[in-house]
Amino acid sequence: MTHTEHPRDVLGVGYFVFEVADLAAWHTLLVSGLGLTDGGLLADGMRAYRLDERSARVLLREGPADDLVALGFEVDGEAALAAVEGRAREAGVAFERASEADAAARCVAALARVVEPGGVVLELFAGAVAASEPLDRSINAGGFVTGVLGAGHLALRADDIERTRAFFERLLGFRLSDHIRCELRGGFQVDITFLHVNARHHSVALGRGLPKHLHHFMVQVAALDDLGRAYDRFFDLGLPVTQSLGRHPNDRMLSFYAKTPSGFEIECGYGGVEIDDATWTPTTYDQISLWGHRPPRSMKDLHARGRTDR
Ligand SMILES: [Fe+2]
Repeated sequence: MTHTEHPRDVLGVGYFVFEVADLAAWHTLLVSGLGLTDGGLLADGMRAYRLDERSARVLLREGPADDLVALGFEVDGEAALAAVEGRAREAGVAFERASEADAAARCVAALARVVEPGGVVLELFAGAVAASEPLDRSINAGGFVTGVLGAGHLALRADDIERTRAFFERLLGFRLSDHIRCELRGGFQVDITFLHVNARHHSVALGRGLPKHLHHFMVQVAALDDLGRAYDRFFDLGLPVTQSLGRHPNDRMLSFYAKTPSGFEIECGYGGVEIDDATWTPTTYDQISLWGHRPPRSMKDLHARGRTDR
């Protein structure tokens, strides 16, 4: 299948919905650490956090799962929603239209749900509502990169990568970006498939062997200095940085990772390549990072060893 045959109904990741046990710790991570704007309580009691003019980009529900429970994908209007519904029906995938109240609770005009093969609810929506309050730029002055690139990306658990990839490609119009396949120290096999649905290098990456529905989700700051300041703030706030600043070989995102209060990780990124389907050729990389992305503790150990080894 060439790129021209892919449906273009889905625009990108609209929002992330997590069920979390420790709302206060998440608030610290999202607001004080990353600089998201507190969007307050939504109609159904969820807590909303904002990256941009939209009312809700990260939604938190209190509960024991500490996991991703739903992923919002913006579609290109009602006609696009109907097109996805038609393909879902053909493929025998359950497609459920949500009530007006449900849509209002997500701050969108129209909402429907499908479930991806791994069990995460995908919420297809159109007509996102803008917030009435301005964005708080006191912490992350340059704002976040969203717009046509969507809210960010995530690395999703897919125990059968080919099956999940086919679901995203055929139903939602995702295209292959590339793969990373390699063996880490200790013999851990890495096999990640990266998929894009707009110019963002990937909106969804698929990998096996994860304890939760996701390995991490990523938000992208617009200014390099804001990435550096976020990195400083994470250490200052005692937020557990798991991977130091580094750059991936495929999306070329400059980023660091930290553990969220729910156990999975958050990636804070800057930069990164954008894909033009007319010229893009998928490839396979044999390393996860060009440089960096090291556990900070081991960097300290390496530093100490370096001083004594030499
Ligand atoms: Fe990532």
